[in-house]
Amino acid sequence: MDALSTNSLTLGYGEESIIKELDLTIPKEKITVFIGSNGCGKSTLLRSLARLLKPQQGSVILDGNDIAHTPTKEIARNLAILPQSPVAPEGLTVLQLVKQGRYPYQSWLQQWSEQDEKAVYEALELTNMLEFADRKVDSLSGGQRQRAWIAMTLAQDTDILLLDEPTTYLDLTHQIDILDLLYDLNQSEQRTIVMVLHDLNLASRYADHIVAIHNKNIYKQGDPDTIITPELVHSVLGLHCQVTADPICGTPLCVPFSKGRHLNAMKNAVTSVSQ
Ligand SMILES: Nc1ncnc2c1ncn2[C@@H]1O[C@H](COP(=O)(O)OP(=O)(O)OP(=O)(O)O)[C@@H](O)[C@H]1O
Ligand SMILES: [Mg+2]
Repeated sequence: MDALSTNSLTLGYGEESIIKELDLTIPKEKITVFIGSNGCGKSTLLRSLARLLKPQQGSVILDGNDIAHTPTKEIARNLAILPQSPVAPEGLTVLQLVKQGRYPYQSWLQQWSEQDEKAVYEALELTNMLEFADRKVDSLSGGQRQRAWIAMTLAQDTDILLLDEPTTYLDLTHQIDILDLLYDLNQSEQRTIVMVLHDLNLASRYADHIVAIHNKNIYKQGDPDTIITPELVHSVLGLHCQVTADPICGTPLCVPFSKGRHLNAMKNAVTSVSQ
């Protein structure tokens, strides 16, 4: 069954279309990663999946219903989004931010519950943010702030998680921690994860399904082992690279041609590839 899909979805700002007539199916209980160059429309697409952006045309379908006609709290109980570069209101503490994740469960009938409390502390714990709970979000480092936002997204406790570049600002250890955490949530709780990643090598390790976006639509999609090729990387990102096997996981590993200290070795590699 599909978790989320789009039907001839056209997105844009003003007159201009960024994504055009897109038919996309997000596989349920899998990890899907969007890749593509800066400005190709990944964030635009992710935001529209969470109804933060109204389509110019077409629709987004969640569990069989057009989200345009679904109550906001119902969407928020099914789907949480971590936007790219979110900004917290000035003076908000980490704890207050993460508590915001519980808003879909609040109403004048349903006050703050033990379950809300538990979800907030679990999210803080999973993201290693408990020690920062009382700190103001705007006083944190970029990476700590990103983890606070991820905690808020997790506290929402939804079956679907949409994350726009969740590893931005994180040191390599925390990048792996967060991606491992998302993998665990997928494996143990069958959460459907959709994220934007720029690192093709990490995308290849974690994704069940990669969607490469180019020229306002899907250039190619499928499992990383099949679709990550030098041809795809060149067509979608305009980058020349070799694709080899990740020495640890065996997944595709893109090694770009570049300048640098070993320029001569690189020239020899380029010559041998082009011969
Ligand atoms: N609010 C906006 N108003 C007008 N144009 C916008 C707006 N937001 C994004 N755009 C434009 O839409 C296009 C797609 O932007 P989007 O943020 O979706 O790209 P992206 O693929 O997420 O890029 P990146 O990898 O840099 O995050 C870009 O050309 C961008 O300038
Ligand atoms: Mg973006």
